Amino acid sequence: MTLAENDISEGSGQWTGFPAAMPAGIVYGGDYNPEQWPEEIWRQDAELMAEAGVNMVCVGIFAWGRLEPQPGVYDLDWLGRVIDLLWAKGIAVCLATATASPPVWFSRRFPQSLPVTREGLRIDVGSRQHYCPNSADYREAGARLIRQLAGRFGSHPAVALWHVNNEIGCHSNRCHCGKCAAEFVRWLEQRYASVAELNRAWGTAFWSQQYGDWSEVRPPGLMTTIGNPCQELDYQRFMSDSLRDVLVHEIGAIRELLPDARVTTNGVSWFKPADYWEWFRHCDIAALDCYPDPQDPLAASHEAALCHDLYRSFKGGRPFILMEQVTTQVNWRPVNVLKKPGQMRALSLGAVARGGDGVMFFQWRASRAGAEKFHGAMLPHFGPGGRVFREVKELGRDLQALRAVCGARTTAKVAVILGWENRWALELDSKPVALDYERIVRSWHRPLRECHIATDIVPPGAPLDGYEVVVAPALYQLSAAQAADLAAFVRRGGTLVMTYFSAITDECDRIWPDGQPAMLREVFGMAVEEWQPLPAGHSNGLLPAAGGDAVDCHEFCEIVHCEGGEALATFTQDFFAGMPAIVKHRHGEGSAYYFATQPDADFLRDFLGKLLAERGIAAPVAADPAIDVALRTTAEQEFLFVINQGDSPGQVRYGEWSGAADLLDGSRVAESESLPGFAARVLARPR
Ligand code: GLA
Ligand code: ZN
Repeated sequence: MTLAENDISEGSGQWTGFPAAMPAGIVYGGDYNPEQWPEEIWRQDAELMAEAGVNMVCVGIFAWGRLEPQPGVYDLDWLGRVIDLLWAKGIAVCLATATASPPVWFSRRFPQSLPVTREGLRIDVGSRQHYCPNSADYREAGARLIRQLAGRFGSHPAVALWHVNNEIGCHSNRCHCGKCAAEFVRWLEQRYASVAELNRAWGTAFWSQQYGDWSEVRPPGLMTTIGNPCQELDYQRFMSDSLRDVLVHEIGAIRELLPDARVTTNGVSWFKPADYWEWFRHCDIAALDCYPDPQDPLAASHEAALCHDLYRSFKGGRPFILMEQVTTQVNWRPVNVLKKPGQMRALSLGAVARGGDGVMFFQWRASRAGAEKFHGAMLPHFGPGGRVFREVKELGRDLQALRAVCGARTTAKVAVILGWENRWALELDSKPVALDYERIVRSWHRPLRECHIATDIVPPGAPLDGYEVVVAPALYQLSAAQAADLAAFVRRGGTLVMTYFSAITDECDRIWPDGQPAMLREVFGMAVEEWQPLPAGHSNGLLPAAGGDAVDCHEFCEIVHCEGGEALATFTQDFFAGMPAIVKHRHGEGSAYYFATQPDADFLRDFLGKLLAERGIAAPVAADPAIDVALRTTAEQEFLFVINQGDSPGQVRYGEWSGAADLLDGSRVAESESLPGFAARVLARPR
C-alpha cells in the first residue's frame, strides 16, 4: 500500500496519517545512540523510555564504526539485542542507514572519498560527514552496509521507518574534488547540451569568460573577485542534486530488499544548500530538525512555525515528524541558553498544531564523551530526577492525550511562495545589498501567523488553485511560465501580494528586459525604476492614502511608477517623498498588491489582517499575536490548538469554541481567559 492509498481510509477514524507499521498515536522519542553505552545502561534506557511514554527511537545513526568494525566485517548482533530490548517495551525503531559518519578505516582506505574545499584542501577524519557526495566508494560501502541492515532487521516488527543518513550536507555541501568537478561538467552538459548554450546561459561575453570546450569548464574555484553568477548558481543546483542523490541512492539500497520500506530523512530546518521540495518527493514522510535559539521565545516560535508549515507542505499537507529538537540547551552557539520551564512543551505542541504527528529529540541520553556532551537530552547527565526528565514525561502524557489528532489536516486558503533556486539566486553577491531571503520570508509569514491564519508554503510554479491569497516575498527569480501562472491566478480572482526586489531575473540570473516586475507590470499596474536598499538602522516613512499616521518602513525604497495601479501608501522622506510605496491594482477578477518597502511589523499585520478579512478569511478565535492558534481537522472532529509561545500571559476569546473540552487537562474553556506564558490548550469538538 502506498501512502496515497493510505489516504483513502481517512475519515474512518482509524487513519493515523502514517503507515500502518508506525506506532499508534503521536510518535514520541529521540535519537538513541546505545553504541556509546554498556548493555546494562540499555536496560535502564528501555525502562525510562517506557516511563516517559516514548514509542519510537532512531537507532544507529552514527554507528557505522560499530556495525562494520573492519572492512566487510559486520557486527549487527548488538544492534539486534538493542532492538529486541526496545521492542519488548513496545518501542518501535526508526532504523538509520548508519552512513552519516564513515569509519576511520574507510576514509584511510579511500582517501579520495574525503571532500575537498574550494581552496583545494582535503578534509580529514575526526568529526563527521567527511565524505564527498559523489564518491562512488562512499556510496557503494554505504549500500553494502544498508543491505546488511535491511537483510537482518527489515522484517523485524519494531522497524517502523528508515532514517536515511542524517542531515545530508549539513556540514559538507560544497565539494571541489576531481570527481565533483567531472560530475559538474556532466551535469552542465545535460542541462545545456552545447558549450554555445552554456556561454549564452552564463553570459560569458561579460569579462571574456567564453568557454571553447567542455574540458575548459570547472566548478567555481578561487577567484580574484566576483565570479560568474550563473556558474555559481549552477554549482549550487548541482551540489543540491548531488546531495539528493546520496538520499536516493540509499533509499534504492533499502528497497532492493524491502520494496515496501517506509523512509524518511531529517531535513535541517530551512537549509539553504539543499532543495527540499525536490528531496522529500523521495520520502514517505517529511521530517525536520529544528533548533531555534530559545533566548527570544517569540522569535524562536516564529522560526519554528515557518519550518512546520514548510514540512507539512512538502508532502501536500500530510503529517510530518519533528525529528530533532533539544529539550533545553544546545552546545553549538557561542552562548547556549536553557529553554525555560514550559518552553519545550509549547514549542513541541506548536509542531503538532501545524501538522506534526511526531515529536522527537536529539538525543535520548546525554553523551558522556565527544563533541556533544554539553548538548541537552531527554535524559540529561543529572538523570531522571530533575526538571528536564519531568518535563519529558509530562510531554509524553500530553501527546498521549492528543492521540485523536493523528492524521488530522490543516486547511489553508493562504500560501507563501518559497523557492530554493530563488534563494540561491537572490543571495548571490553583487546586488544593491546583501539579501537574507530567510529573514524576508519570515517577516511576511510572521504577520500571517500573528493573525492566526493557516498558511501553506508552496514552491514557485506550484498550482495555486486552492488558495485565495498568495504572498510572494522577494521572488527575485521568475520564469516566464511562473509569471504567467501568477497572472492567471490574479485574473481568476486571486489576491497576490508581492514585495520589493521581485520578478527581476530569469533562471540564468539574467535581468529580464522591459522593466520590473518582469512580465507582471500589467498585473500590478506599476513599474519599478530603481532599487534603493536602506542601510540597517535607516528607515523611510509610509503614509497611508486612506488617512492615519505615517509609520516606519525599512529594507528597501524602490522608485515605483503607477501604471493604472493605485498608491495605497506613499513614502514620506528623502527624494522619495510622495512616491508610491504600496500599490494596489485590480486585474481580471482579482487584485494585486506590490510593496516597494518593508513596513513596520504592526502595520503589516494590520494591513494583511484587513486584506484577509475582506476575503472572508478569519482566525478561528481572537487571541494576542504571541499566541499560536491553529486548527486541524479529521472527517469527524476539529482540534483547535491555542498555545502561548510567549513567557507572559496573553488573552484569548474563544467565541464559538467557548465551552469546548480541552484534551490536555479535561477542563472546558470559558468565553475568554488570560493564558499564562507557555500554557497550551487543545480543544476538540465534533465537526
Ligand atoms: C543535528 C544532528 C544531530 C546532532 C544535533 C545537535 O541536528 O542531526 O546528530 O548533532 O544536530 O544539535
Ligand atoms: Zn567531491
